[in-house]
Amino acid sequence: MNQTNSPKSLGMSVKASPGDFDLESYMHDRTKAVNQALDHFLPRANTNPPTLHEAMRYSLFAGGKRLRPALCLAAAEACAGSVDDAMPLACAVECIHTYSLIHDDLPAMDDDDYRRGKLTNHKVFGEGIAILAGDALLTQAFEIAAQSKGWTRYSHQKIFRELSHAAGSLQLIAGQVADLEGEGKKIPASELKYIHERKTSALLCCAVRLGGMSANCAAARLRALTDFGYNVGLAFQVIDDILDVTQTSEHLGKTAGKDQAARKATYPSIVGMKRSRQIAKELTGRAFAALRPFKGKALALEALAHHLLERSR
Ligand code: IPE
Ligand code: IPE
Ligand code: MG
Ligand code: MG
Ligand code: MG
Repeated sequence: MNQTNSPKSLGMSVKASPGDFDLESYMHDRTKAVNQALDHFLPRANTNPPTLHEAMRYSLFAGGKRLRPALCLAAAEACAGSVDDAMPLACAVECIHTYSLIHDDLPAMDDDDYRRGKLTNHKVFGEGIAILAGDALLTQAFEIAAQSKGWTRYSHQKIFRELSHAAGSLQLIAGQVADLEGEGKKIPASELKYIHERKTSALLCCAVRLGGMSANCAAARLRALTDFGYNVGLAFQVIDDILDVTQTSEHLGKTAGKDQAARKATYPSIVGMKRSRQIAKELTGRAFAALRPFKGKALALEALAHHLLERSR
């Protein structure tokens, strides 16, 4: 399996967005800028201890879709902010996301051998280094966020609180705990929603909110972005659950069919495939509705929400 994060490999060869917005070239440009910025922010691979820095870079540059940074930058642009001001925050979120994937793949968690089209971090570097590379990426995120400029409405204190809350024991980690504890159990749909809100939607929503904050957006705008990010984030995980059933490992760049094998609580397993698709569509509809205050000026966010629903990987 091999995967790059070119727009073609993201399944964007067909027109992926409503209206005239060219999402393929948007993602091409933003992905390139994000990769350059991450390369700048991360210590070189040969920095002591080299094994650790190699392992951090291995997963960070393995070919992720860069959807969270793209959402962050698009939210900044929707609020008339700049890509440069949002970039440290977009990179911080991607570091936290990558750390969460390295740990999610560990034998003690989902026990996965492939990620982003390559062997998982622990398969290449061993479990000890993979745990530490995850720890280091999580910490690195805050060092990168500290390099953002700070805004009159959003001080560094608020930015750090935003990131740490989304990644912490009430959100992302709480979701991962409930996900593990839900294995092999028939849980109600409300409990599954609790898991998805935390393990996935929280960080995705945080990416969108940080984009708005980097544009020093007003409170009403931030509320609209929160509503958008929450719903897109939930839809994102419903689709992830669906793709685990419908796609091949080669296409996904990670082992398909793992959720059923691990008896995970997922949308297809609890409400069925047809209802899962309906729910993803409804959530995306709510995300679109949240963008109304932007009066057609959030084209990249609209196109991304549409793509996240229609994506095949
Ligand atoms: C995978 O996220 C983990 C989930 C929250 C479902 P992505 O599908 O965005 O993974 P990458 O970043 O492209 O590898
Ligand atoms: C991952 O959810 C969520 C986090 C890493 C926080 P999954 O376990 O469904 O993600 P994949 O399918 O392994 O990418
Ligand atoms: Mg998991
Ligand atoms: Mg997993
Ligand atoms: Mg999954």
